[in-house]
Amino acid sequence: MNASAPTSAETLRRTLGGLLDGLPPKQATAAVERLIASYRGQTPTDAPVLRDRSDVAAYAAYRMPATFEAVRGALDGLAEAAPDWAPGSHVDVGGGTGAATWAVDATWDGPRETTVLDWAEPALALGRELAAASSSEVLRAAAWRRAVIGSGLTLPEVDLVTVSYVLGELTAPARTAVVAEAARAGQAVVLIEPGTPEGYLRIREARDQLIEAGLRIAAPCPHDGTCPIEVGQDWCHFSARVSRSSLHRQVKGGSLPYEDEKFSYVAATRFPTEPAASRITRRPQIRKGLVLLELCGPEGDGLTRVNVTKRQGDLYKAARDADWGQAWPPAP
Ligand SMILES: C[S@@+](CC[C@H](N)C(=O)[O-])C[C@H]1O[C@@H](n2cnc3c(N)ncnc32)[C@H](O)[C@@H]1O
Repeated sequence: MNASAPTSAETLRRTLGGLLDGLPPKQATAAVERLIASYRGQTPTDAPVLRDRSDVAAYAAYRMPATFEAVRGALDGLAEAAPDWAPGSHVDVGGGTGAATWAVDATWDGPRETTVLDWAEPALALGRELAAASSSEVLRAAAWRRAVIGSGLTLPEVDLVTVSYVLGELTAPARTAVVAEAARAGQAVVLIEPGTPEGYLRIREARDQLIEAGLRIAAPCPHDGTCPIEVGQDWCHFSARVSRSSLHRQVKGGSLPYEDEKFSYVAATRFPTEPAASRITRRPQIRKGLVLLELCGPEGDGLTRVNVTKRQGDLYKAARDADWGQAWPPAP
């Protein structure tokens, strides 16, 4: 892990905190509400949703802290399965204001060549500005380029391709094209979507496509076989805690200092990794002398429920500390 990770995350939070400064609270709230309405509208779109500076400032201030934490969660899954690996080059497709590049920077030390591709110029411009404020050389040197995702997209061959919160904005053919191109160009591919039933289905479909293209799953799945979840009954997703800014409190009300961003993801590689033996698929439930874990296990075992009792000593202690999304059993 990058020793400067908290600094990087902290810098991002501070920089984003200042983004809507100077805008009266009502205008800032209105910008975010406009953005939420555009996202509720018809997707996929045939023109960028992020059209101007106020759209992208609202996106960055309101959504980027959450997408940053979700991508970090997904990258942690990959980093745990490949502890000796670090990407020396990275392309972030549909990278917008750069949340995934910040998350990669918080996960692995450089040096690294980073390219962010998006069709929305204002998003790239703001992403470049935010990165310029970072203490990370990797982020400051990143290239920000306009590119449209579709059958014409060609990516450079790189160690890592990320596609974060983008698949849901694409037509089915564009989605297939970007996953195919990521699988061709990347040694590792990480795809992240909102943790909704629809987001999970897009990840599930992309997972099959990555396996078909010859990649192996590193996380979150313990195997490359068919996902044991029955579609329509449940969906695989995880949760990342995000500090709420005053802007969030203005828009959404409530007083909690945080909210939980739900996300679905898949990380696949062309190189061998050590996927988790099992993964915790729900928040563990702690009872007196007992922890209930819901697990996705080895191929054939499917989804299981395990009771870890006080009598199991160290394993019980580990279960009490265990978190949703973590590998199980924990590494010694
Ligand atoms: C919800 S934002 C996610 C941004 C960023 N990846 C993140 O995680 O915060 C979706 C991004 O995908 C970009 N996008 C959507 N459709 C695209 C397309 N056809 N070609 C290129 N970029 C596209 C949008 O401009 C936007 O920046």
